[in-house]
Amino acid sequence: MIQLFHVTKYYDRRPALFDINLQIDKGEFVLLMGPSGAGKTTLLKLLFCAEQPDEGQILVQQRNVARIRPWEVPYLRRRMGFVFQDFRLLPKKTVFENVALPLLVQGVSSFDARRKVMEVLKAAGIDHKKESRPPLLSAGEQQRVCIARAIVNGPFVLLADEPTGNMDPDLSSEIIELFKTINARGTTVVVATHNRQVVEQVNRRVVTLAQGRLASDDRPASDERVGQ
Ligand SMILES: Nc1ncnc2c1ncn2[C@@H]1O[C@H](COP(=O)(O)OP(=O)(O)OP(=O)(O)O)[C@@H](O)[C@H]1O
Ligand SMILES: [Mg+2]
Repeated sequence: MIQLFHVTKYYDRRPALFDINLQIDKGEFVLLMGPSGAGKTTLLKLLFCAEQPDEGQILVQQRNVARIRPWEVPYLRRRMGFVFQDFRLLPKKTVFENVALPLLVQGVSSFDARRKVMEVLKAAGIDHKKESRPPLLSAGEQQRVCIARAIVNGPFVLLADEPTGNMDPDLSSEIIELFKTINARGTTVVVATHNRQVVEQVNRRVVTLAQGRLASDDRPASDERVGQ
């Protein structure tokens, strides 16, 4: 469902990613690891069409997004969910309104939006804060809102960049459990992280980048979902 063929991306003539070949199948949970500057965020940005590669092809559900036209990007993004490290929630809107926004901009009726928003707020364990405004929430609660917002469209893939960035181990563990639940319900999940604790807790495929190159691609022996 996601395939990269010989993907290279330069910034200022230096390759942030170099000749990456990678396939991610439906239902997988993939961790992207590697030291700072390895190219993890760049890879997620390419999948989300926030950047375009200089060389190579990227197929997202059979569509080559490496040369996507700007007007097509929003349509593609509607089928993807993205969780940023800095929360990017609208501070003056309530939790409910933040999560409803992606649906309302697409013209979903307020009746259907309400039902869908309540469903994902419950799934993310944050429905009791639906009338709160993001600045009054804890970091873990804000991250739950972001995850709810990212899945409200029913995306086929959820991409997350350092979603447990500044969190203590307990909080990080809760957020990772939430990603595991979302994955168990059928959504493909790709998470970039530095955090070894996350790797142990998830215990699934780990793709490691080093200086823009694919350094390793490991699956635990018990990973039976690969290829589904
Ligand atoms: N917009 C940009 N302009 C110029 N160089 C960039 C830009 N974005 C990233 N880079 C460079 O590309 C390389 C890869 O950066 P990237 O952000 O993908 O790394 P990362 O693996 O996500 O690192 P971190 O773990 O610190 O988040 C780095 O050398 C970085 O300096
Ligand atoms: Mg990064």
